[in-house]
Amino acid sequence: MRTLMDAESVLLSVLTPEGRANPHPSFAELRRLAPIHRSEALDTHFLTRFAECHAVLTNHEFLVPDLTWCSSNIPDWREHPAADFFYSSLLGSNGAVHDRLRRPVARAFGVRRIAALRRTVEKITEELLDGFAEATSSGGAANFQELVGDPLPVAVAGGLIGVPRADQEHFHRLGRDASRLLEPVRTADDWARADGAVDTLREYFTGLLRERRARPADDFASALHTQHAPGDTPLTERERVDILLLLFVAGFETTSGMLGLTVFALLTHPGELALVRADPDLATAAVEESLRWDTPVVMTERIAARPLELAPSVTVPEGASVTAVLTAANRDPGHHPDPDAFTVRRQGTRVLSFSAGTHFCPGAALARSEGAALVRRLVHRFPGLGLAGEPVRRASVSLRSFDDLPLVTTG
Ligand code: HEM
Repeated sequence: MRTLMDAESVLLSVLTPEGRANPHPSFAELRRLAPIHRSEALDTHFLTRFAECHAVLTNHEFLVPDLTWCSSNIPDWREHPAADFFYSSLLGSNGAVHDRLRRPVARAFGVRRIAALRRTVEKITEELLDGFAEATSSGGAANFQELVGDPLPVAVAGGLIGVPRADQEHFHRLGRDASRLLEPVRTADDWARADGAVDTLREYFTGLLRERRARPADDFASALHTQHAPGDTPLTERERVDILLLLFVAGFETTSGMLGLTVFALLTHPGELALVRADPDLATAAVEESLRWDTPVVMTERIAARPLELAPSVTVPEGASVTAVLTAANRDPGHHPDPDAFTVRRQGTRVLSFSAGTHFCPGAALARSEGAALVRRLVHRFPGLGLAGEPVRRASVSLRSFDDLPLVTTG
């Protein structure tokens, strides 16, 4: 009984501002006390070990919360465009419905397509770093997140989708608002922000698709009009709009989070940064280690389709909620030895940062390539790069990110 109460208070400490800033000690403690912990307050089973997280994510009988779940758990969902969008999207659908929506996305984000984009990613990175160099040239500090971390994923994925560069700058605030949908407990303010962003973005993408139907270009928005696998019912207009919107919600804030977290991890581990400076080929490994060490998407939820075993003698009933804590799984000492150390030369890294199973992130290769391009160029161009003050973290439980990461280039 005592352990259960302790585990619950350790878990709830993650929701405090201090816990959000550094949730790792709390998750480690929770894993030690109760690696499968049923939270009374949040009505879900928290999993903090790699093995159970991986098993749940790759078991198709653990479903993502979908429209059926939403209609019985969010009674006023019809009043929330964001709920209607999210729970019928790729991330909120299961089985054949999910497979049909996923096929065109998988094609657009295939490994070969992303490899072909490498030059473009490097060019955009270089341009944004020019602006960052200028902003810091007189010795002052600049917010890396604002100048590079946020615009880079918007420019790269925006280019792939077909969002003109001039339109992209509006997307930052909208992305931030839309990603409130990813919070495990949404406040009235979260809903209001997410609803507003979904309405605006649906209108925007409807216009973009109309434009591309009239004048096709070499981008995903144009391809969505023509692509569907043999045997699949063609996508409806609303489905096309919502696929573009989901790419935006799922792809931008997560990647910008990862970019800032990676730079911060390197700057706070000068020995590791020196290794990457000496051998820029370590850039890819540095990004992988950062994804493990400070995982941008903290957790994801599943619902049991029938009574299912989480571990020997732990069975959850049909309809039970289970939360895989990706941030904790990646620091499970049973999976990655000495997990709290940030070590770019770590061997055998296998992360859950992009989830696993049918919902595995289709943007993983793109995000990794952006991270590697950034680290490589950053160490090459700025030998004096340093922190210029205490960074400001995003007030979010589900996404790890910075609002302000002040850096100087002459440290
Ligand atoms: C570091 C960057 C990123 C991280 C950490 C990340 C993480 C994730 C995770 C954890 C999931 C699965 C959630 C679950 O299983 O419930 C996911 C799904 C998804 N991600 Fe990413 N993502 C990143 C970048 C991107 C990018 C660049 C794109 C595309 C532009 C993207 C598009 C998507 C989409 C469409 C899904 C839904 C897939 C499905 O449900 O089948 N992500 N991402």
